[in-house]
Amino acid sequence: TAVLLTISLLQLARGSPVVKSGVINYSFPDDFIFGVSTAAYQIEGGWNEGGKGESMWDTFLHEHPTFTVDHSNGDVAADSYHHYMEDIEMIKKLGVQSYRMSISWTRILPNGTDNNINQEGVKYYRTLFEELVKANITPVVTLYHWDMPTPFMKLGGWTNAKVIDYFEDYARVAFRLYGDLVKMWLTVNEPHEGCLSGYGQATLAPAMNSHGLGIYLCTHNNLLAHARVYRMYEKEFKPLQKGKVSLPFESAWAEPHDPNKADDVEAAENYLQMHLGMFAHPIFSEEGDYPRVVREKIDNMSRLQGYSRSRLPYFTDEEVKALRGSADFFSLNHYTALSNTPSAMESYFKVPSLHQDTGVRILVYPSWPKPFIRWQYLYPQGFRKLVNWLQNKYKILKEIPIIITENGFADFGGIEDYDRVDYYNDFLYQLLLAIHEDGCNVKGYFAWSLMDDFEWIDGYKHKFGLYSVDFNSPNRTRTPKLSAYNYANIVRTRRIDF
Ligand code: NOJ
Repeated sequence: TAVLLTISLLQLARGSPVVKSGVINYSFPDDFIFGVSTAAYQIEGGWNEGGKGESMWDTFLHEHPTFTVDHSNGDVAADSYHHYMEDIEMIKKLGVQSYRMSISWTRILPNGTDNNINQEGVKYYRTLFEELVKANITPVVTLYHWDMPTPFMKLGGWTNAKVIDYFEDYARVAFRLYGDLVKMWLTVNEPHEGCLSGYGQATLAPAMNSHGLGIYLCTHNNLLAHARVYRMYEKEFKPLQKGKVSLPFESAWAEPHDPNKADDVEAAENYLQMHLGMFAHPIFSEEGDYPRVVREKIDNMSRLQGYSRSRLPYFTDEEVKALRGSADFFSLNHYTALSNTPSAMESYFKVPSLHQDTGVRILVYPSWPKPFIRWQYLYPQGFRKLVNWLQNKYKILKEIPIIITENGFADFGGIEDYDRVDYYNDFLYQLLLAIHEDGCNVKGYFAWSLMDDFEWIDGYKHKFGLYSVDFNSPNRTRTPKLSAYNYANIVRTRRIDF
């Protein structure tokens, strides 16, 4: 062990990539929370059972059955609607303290609006939360994990600012119904991904390509929806319920293609500003609002394209005030890394058609392992760098913690998932370094995902689970993978054994 440790430390000193064997002499602090994550549409099934109304994903995939690579949908998924007690048993076996899941908006409000509350749906989540709390598992609940009520999708989804009002009504119902049991809430999951892919690139429902407008309307309205709900909770519920509210951001790490070239460094920085700063800056920075570089680039580009107003809307002073400081912790989802150049960045900012907008040319270092799922490149050090980037950018993160609400690895399935074991070990190791060597204020980590599920456009082709799910069996049989045992061991010992 001593030899291995020395080797590891030597590798570390040389800045070598990932330590593959040895014992790491750091452990996760006692107040560090471990958890697992899922989302309603990806696991629940029961799409039309128990009085549930249709969500955008139900409708969209029924109307466009070939949208997913395997022509599948989430009608049944892992059938957690019927098997949630098994899910809880699985979570218990992992020994984690917390479970992040989402409420399906239309299971409790079938039309999306609060004039019709579906008691059967209400009861489903009530029982689930009660059982979790009974098992000493803290629920962390996402209000919106992409399953927009269909009636609102037909009104333009998040491009329609009226949806903010309905989202607030829905959130109020959820806080009233479950706030005694749920003390950690997340508003809108990954607005960047939902807006870019849903209203730009057309790789997520509602697959609207609105010529460089929709993506920013969605962004703007998502941020306002979050602020509205945060302030409503703060005023109407927090004094009694004493919970915390945030929203999950997602970002890859952007590595300058050549760290010695100022242009590459700037391009990588711009990428992070566009993907993460655009959403986090209004909430976590001292000045609020969009990052200056994002504002300038989009305003300029809009002008060049002949628009008389920017495609990125402006916040009023009131809105900036409501947004600034509207989170009790920083919720970060992270999976991958990329490396980019200025020309790639320019194509991103041009955005006339959102197919081009998302065309940040991804350049990957030859040493980065080849991914299974097309967008995942393995560069664990990027995780540490990203956490440090946040910590340096937003002073407030000294006071409120960063919680990793998703991190995980996609493969093609199988329970001997050595690659996933490596992924978790390598990424958690980088997190330990960020905590112990860089002093980053990270207080929690949720693995994505508890089990194999419906992976949006990739259907059931790619698997993220710690537990495998047999999607051909009527009972959706669940089996722990090697990575589940490995994760349980990390959670129990609070250390990583390579
Ligand atoms: C982030 C999303 O929140 C989740 O729904 C998805 O399955 C994972 N990324 C993996 O792609």
